[in-house]
Amino acid sequence: MAWDSGRVTAEASTDVAYQGAPLLPARKYVWMARVWDETGEPGPWSSEATFETALDPAAGWSASWIGLGPGDDPSAPPGPGGPVDAIAQAMKAAPYLRRAFTLDRKVVSARLYATALGIYQLSVNGRPVSDGVLAPGWTDYARRLLYQTYDVTELLLEGDNVVGAIVADGWACGFYGFDAKRAGAHYARDPQLLAQLVIIMEDGAEQRIVTDERWRSSTGAIAHADLLMGERRDQRREPPAWGCPGFDDSSWRPASCRERGDAALVADPGPPIKVTEELPAKTVGPAPGGGLIVDFGQNLAGWVRLTVDEPPGTVIRVRHGEVLDEEGSLYVDNLRTARQTDLFTTAGGTEVLEPRSTFHGFRYAEISGLSGDLTPAAATACVVHSDTPRTGFFDCSSPEVNRLYANIDWGQRANFISIPTDCPQRDERLGWLGDAQIFARTAAYNRDVASFFSKWLDDLSDAQLPSGAFTDFAPRLDLDHEAAPAWGDAGVIVPWTVYKMYGDTGVLERNFRSMAAWMDFLSANNPARLRTHKLGNNFGDWLAPKGDFTPRELLATAYWAYDAALMAEMCRAVGRSQDDARYQQLASEVRDAFVKEYVGPTGTVASGTQTAYVLALHMGLLPEHLRAQAAAHLVAAIVREDWHLATGFVGVGYLLPVLSSNGYSDVAYRLLEQRSFPSWQYTIDRGATTIWERWDGWTDDNGFQAPLMNSFNHYSLGSVGEWLYRFVLGIELAPGAAGFDRVEIRPHPGGSLSYARGSFRSVRGEISTAWARDGARFTLEVNVPTNVRASVHVPSARPGEVVGADGTGPRLVADYPGTIGQREAVFEVGPGQYSFSGPQLVGP
Ligand code: BGC
Repeated sequence: MAWDSGRVTAEASTDVAYQGAPLLPARKYVWMARVWDETGEPGPWSSEATFETALDPAAGWSASWIGLGPGDDPSAPPGPGGPVDAIAQAMKAAPYLRRAFTLDRKVVSARLYATALGIYQLSVNGRPVSDGVLAPGWTDYARRLLYQTYDVTELLLEGDNVVGAIVADGWACGFYGFDAKRAGAHYARDPQLLAQLVIIMEDGAEQRIVTDERWRSSTGAIAHADLLMGERRDQRREPPAWGCPGFDDSSWRPASCRERGDAALVADPGPPIKVTEELPAKTVGPAPGGGLIVDFGQNLAGWVRLTVDEPPGTVIRVRHGEVLDEEGSLYVDNLRTARQTDLFTTAGGTEVLEPRSTFHGFRYAEISGLSGDLTPAAATACVVHSDTPRTGFFDCSSPEVNRLYANIDWGQRANFISIPTDCPQRDERLGWLGDAQIFARTAAYNRDVASFFSKWLDDLSDAQLPSGAFTDFAPRLDLDHEAAPAWGDAGVIVPWTVYKMYGDTGVLERNFRSMAAWMDFLSANNPARLRTHKLGNNFGDWLAPKGDFTPRELLATAYWAYDAALMAEMCRAVGRSQDDARYQQLASEVRDAFVKEYVGPTGTVASGTQTAYVLALHMGLLPEHLRAQAAAHLVAAIVREDWHLATGFVGVGYLLPVLSSNGYSDVAYRLLEQRSFPSWQYTIDRGATTIWERWDGWTDDNGFQAPLMNSFNHYSLGSVGEWLYRFVLGIELAPGAAGFDRVEIRPHPGGSLSYARGSFRSVRGEISTAWARDGARFTLEVNVPTNVRASVHVPSARPGEVVGADGTGPRLVADYPGTIGQREAVFEVGPGQYSFSGPQLVGP
């Protein structure tokens, strides 16, 4: 046994560090836990859980990079159906690689470790090694290569075996980013594979099959596969059963082979990318320009699977788009140079046509080339994203608000593909830091993104510049620049969010150096404590609907003060008391500079924009005595817009939380349920099934926004999601808590909602609330999991009359922060299920 913790008397049921003997590389470990209850009675052991350790980074690898052999011709044959231009010519056939070998004894265990410059599909004896797709995902391949580990014991046979791989261009070799005139190949010219199969025989002997010159290479059905452009398959060119023993590979050539190099090989910490759902076609109808339009009813990222029965050599083209234009044709102008087009040449008979080495952002597909009809059952949308398990649920009496909630989650799913991207459709799809920081908390309520973000934070530090500056997006391409305010600050805000949501202090330790370097960069360049220098692309409050009137240096300084305060909190969490004091000092200096420069004696904040007030209030920049006045100014700014929001990316996530925390839940609900432009509901009333990049992506007056920047699937403006959990459901961390060990249950009923219910599966278990307003009464049900303490705050017109189901009254009565002048009843509870009821709030 590697470790027996013995019985530990503590509440720390998460983030408990391993203290046993050093773990050995490439091993499988099994672990179990049990708990003792409050009477000292032990429960049964849990079922077995397992993890595997990484290969020894130095001695563990003996594989080399392999790719298409020198004599193989990867150039795609011209046509059919697509334009033969520079882009088409730059795309090449995907290498098919195989290695046959014989095992003369029984296998007891076998692990396949693999990574690629490109994206791979691996098989053993013709069977896929997993249901993952688009592996190994995206990193800065020059610095960090993620490899995946597969247990392939069951796939191997005594006797002849084959490992097979197809490697497509992917992020490493293909078109990506703003790739209009470029030829892709950001990290490598040709796709390559690095893999190692480690087999343990029944007598304990180890046999290794590694990628080397003994592999054979050729090409097959994939004439090209590119993340932006799409996949082109000629089904007739697929060598039958090429991945199985017995296939004659004498016409294949030896694979090209080169040394591994010194980029770090790191075991993939993140969830694999998978097809997580399949959506049947909703409707199939004629496309105005010929062919068919299939509507899947939902904007998503993934691909289409078609079942067809056509004569051999039929060319079928599938184009993908998010919306239709006024004529009902596929609208693709907003894709810029991304083609999102799959082309298939059929082999004949009933065939399934499905790309596996690309993804598209779409709701609609335009299909041409079929000789007959297409039934809806023959077209399926495969939903592809990092398989982050769902942890949040929300439901309320308003179908429109429920649709907004669904749109937020769909936007997250479509954009959490190895990294958090801005959008899944146009020629961009980059890991923009600003978008991610504003959405991170919403993301972590919706789904378990702990390891997903932990991986991406490595991408951030890989991209960090020698000056200490983070970059605007990560992983980097070849467009380095010092990050803009609110973008670079993600390097502090995202680790803090992961720590708060999961109680994980390891993420703070791992990222401390890069966070501190960023803070040093800001301090060194801004000695006067106003952030006026080194503002990079200085995007400001990006995409504010009427224009960005928030001074950029105000916004920058606010985020700096916020960073400093979060740094201090994180230092406390990991016992760095000197750094804590240093950052507290910095936070107070920047705050003072902010107040001196931008805050008036009656709580006005320079420019008077909603975003200026939201940042000042959310980031704790105002002296206590000015907060109420500043909040009133914020509301006045909203009233001036006739109860509409005027924030862009940067203010929007904090807008409703700030309103609710300062007595204006009624205003927050008015914005939430606002139907006229600009508002979330405006987009929903116009058919949005995801969150749009811009409030005016499409308007009744102007139709489509300019195609240059008009995605219908950006999650940033969906950062309102955290308000639904934290304020509508009232599932909130207690002040100073991390990982939901102490919780504040404080629902904010309001708007048209007669009920709301939902839950969050925290690392300590499921926390749920359900409230209803019924006539004069307000009722609340709460579930608090083991090892969690909660203070339950029930807003009420007469809080002294609120009772729990067992007839007990509140511990105290206090001011209710959601509505000025109203009060709440407070109950302190431990794990369990509770109901409360009392007189409703007056108003709102
Ligand atoms: C992206 C944004 C990103 C921005 C930088 C856009 O093209 O889509 O989401 O944050 O550039 O301002």
